[in-house]
Amino acid sequence: MTQVDVLLGLQWGDEGKGKIVDVLSPQYDLIARFQGGPNAGHTLEFDGKKFVLNTIPSGIFNEKTMNLIGNGVVIDPIILKRELDNLKAAGHDPVGKGKLAIARKAHLILPTHQLLDAANEQKMGKDKIGSTLKGIGPTYMDKTGRNGLRVGDTTLPDFKERYNKLVQKHKDMLSHYNFEYDLTEKEAAFFEAIEFIKSIPHVDSEHYVNGFLKEGKTVLAEGAQGTLLDVDFGSYPFVTSSNTTTAGACTGLGIAPNKVGHVYGIFKAYCTRVGGGPFPTELDNEVGETLRSVGHEFGATTGRARRCGWIDLPALKYAIMLNGVTDLIMMKADVLDGFDSIYACTHYEHNGETIDYMPYDIITVQPIPVLKEIEGWKTDVTKITAVDQIPAKLADYIAFLEKELQVPVKFLSVGPDRTQTLELN
Ligand code: GDP
Ligand code: IMO
Ligand code: MG
Repeated sequence: MTQVDVLLGLQWGDEGKGKIVDVLSPQYDLIARFQGGPNAGHTLEFDGKKFVLNTIPSGIFNEKTMNLIGNGVVIDPIILKRELDNLKAAGHDPVGKGKLAIARKAHLILPTHQLLDAANEQKMGKDKIGSTLKGIGPTYMDKTGRNGLRVGDTTLPDFKERYNKLVQKHKDMLSHYNFEYDLTEKEAAFFEAIEFIKSIPHVDSEHYVNGFLKEGKTVLAEGAQGTLLDVDFGSYPFVTSSNTTTAGACTGLGIAPNKVGHVYGIFKAYCTRVGGGPFPTELDNEVGETLRSVGHEFGATTGRARRCGWIDLPALKYAIMLNGVTDLIMMKADVLDGFDSIYACTHYEHNGETIDYMPYDIITVQPIPVLKEIEGWKTDVTKITAVDQIPAKLADYIAFLEKELQVPVKFLSVGPDRTQTLELN
């Protein structure tokens, strides 16, 4: 029997998961998204075209690969329909080609979940999480609170009554906020989209994925967000509302832990974060500005400027431990091409001590990064196509990271295009 490989982000999201899932997808029979929702924005570039996927797995552009939206994902039917309409207009029709299935047990994001997200953030003022305002938190709250509506419910004769009951609860909650809203247009779009998603095959993801494994087929689980946004282990409360770690792939698809094979941990050669919360290596200066402009660090979903900083090794070690990472993938090395020196945080100074882990009180007492200087390679790497063309100083940087992190770097990405990817070792 085959096992499920997992690919997930090791930082605060936007590491380049979409690009690499697309690159790896020819090796897999099934690509399955396991958590998060349209807060994700996964960018793919090939043949001079660029696509941003929010809910749809990034295997969609590979002719032979099947794609599944797993039970751990929260689905906004309006956004999913828009994504599929846009893809169709661009000549890609995964539904028509039978290349997309959706888990019956995946929860639905209602228009009122988005209103609650916005009302809550507005109330928090300067302490807000910096949510993408897609209704993620309130939808997972209804899931764990056992009130939620699921994809499978849309075919029940009393779906509308169930919807009205939940919306009434949300309206009661909204009455406690000073928050203006008009639901009419959104509700009409919601029910139109619900009709549309009935045309996508609904499956039990646990049987579906295990069925692939029994037949000896290959499966890649695609994560969203990043480990440091995990609801249990991230910088709580500045996190998302799902388990973004390998454990989330088990609950988000219905696979047992012993069915997990390779775990690909993906990280940028530096670090970014969008939204609020601690970020020890943040560069709130010209250097950060340079990383942002060279790396085009603006959110794929919200367009917000991403906060930028140096690579954080204590945070990466933590993420590798939590996920059982077997292979590392380093992204956006090209963004550092012009730097004379780059820096890596090896430890933190925290409450008078030197530590090499993320402390519990990171929210209240920001640790001070201890940085190691690394000589830059000062070479354009965007056109290199073979391992022997990697500049010696970039190779040294990779070797340094492998030694620190004790996991091999299997792929190196030197540009946003599919072709700008090198397999190492
Ligand atoms: P994801 O959410 O993890 O899929 O990542 P995003 O798509 O939100 O952000 C990654 C951004 O970096 C996208 O704009 C990609 O096109 C781009 N990108 C990916 N890999 C590379 C790379 O190696 N170099 C450069 N310069 N850009 C990259
Ligand atoms: P991908 O999959 C980066 C961040 C938000 C906010 C926090 C909570 O593209 O890497 P939420 O909308 O989940 O309530 O927001 O999490 N966030 C992301 N940051 N990449 C993402 O996804 C993110 N999804 C959520 O900015 O700080
Ligand atoms: Mg993204």
